[in-house]
Amino acid sequence: MPETASAPAPVALSPATLERIRAARDRYPSSRSAALPALWAAQDQLGHVPPEAMVAVAAELGIGPAEVEAVATFYAMYFRRPPGRHFVQVCRNVSCALRGADAVLRHLEAELGVADGGTSADGLVTLESTMECLGACGGAPALQVDRYTVENCSPERCAALVERLRHPDAASDGWEAGH
Ligand code: FES
Repeated sequence: MPETASAPAPVALSPATLERIRAARDRYPSSRSAALPALWAAQDQLGHVPPEAMVAVAAELGIGPAEVEAVATFYAMYFRRPPGRHFVQVCRNVSCALRGADAVLRHLEAELGVADGGTSADGLVTLESTMECLGACGGAPALQVDRYTVENCSPERCAALVERLRHPDAASDGWEAGH
C-alpha cells in the first residue's frame, strides 16, 4: 500500500493568540481575509510559522491549510524557520536597483558572512532581498531593519548599521529614527 503524506499536527496556540485570531476573523465577511493578521499572531507567539502553526491557524479560520500556506509562503515577512534576532530586507526593485542596491546587498552578505535568504551563523541577522518595493523609492537604495526603514544606503552606512546591530552601544547615524 503506498504511503500517503499526512498533514502535520496543529501546534498549540496560546489563549492570547487565539483571541487575536478570532478578533481578526470576526472583522471580515470571509474568514480567509483574516489569514494575514492570524499569521502575525501565530508568529508573534512562536517566533516563526512552521507548518504545524499553519494548520492551527487554518483550523481556527475554518479554511484549508493549503490556503494559509499559500499566504505564508507568498510574503517574505513570515518565517518558516526561526529567524535571526534582526530581519534585514534589502530592496532590489527598480529605483533601488538603479541606485546601487546590489552593492548594498553584496556588502551586507560579506559583512555578515551570510548569503541572501539565510541567517548569519551567530544568529544576529536574517537577510532577505526577494520582497517588493519598500515604498521608500525617494531614498533609494533603501532597506528595512526589523520595522525601521533606512534610506540612502551605502556600503559605509551598512557597515555602521551592522556594527550597531552587533553592539547596541555603538554609535548610530540615526537610522532607528525611521529615516
Ligand atoms: Fe526600493 Fe521602492 S524600489 S523602495
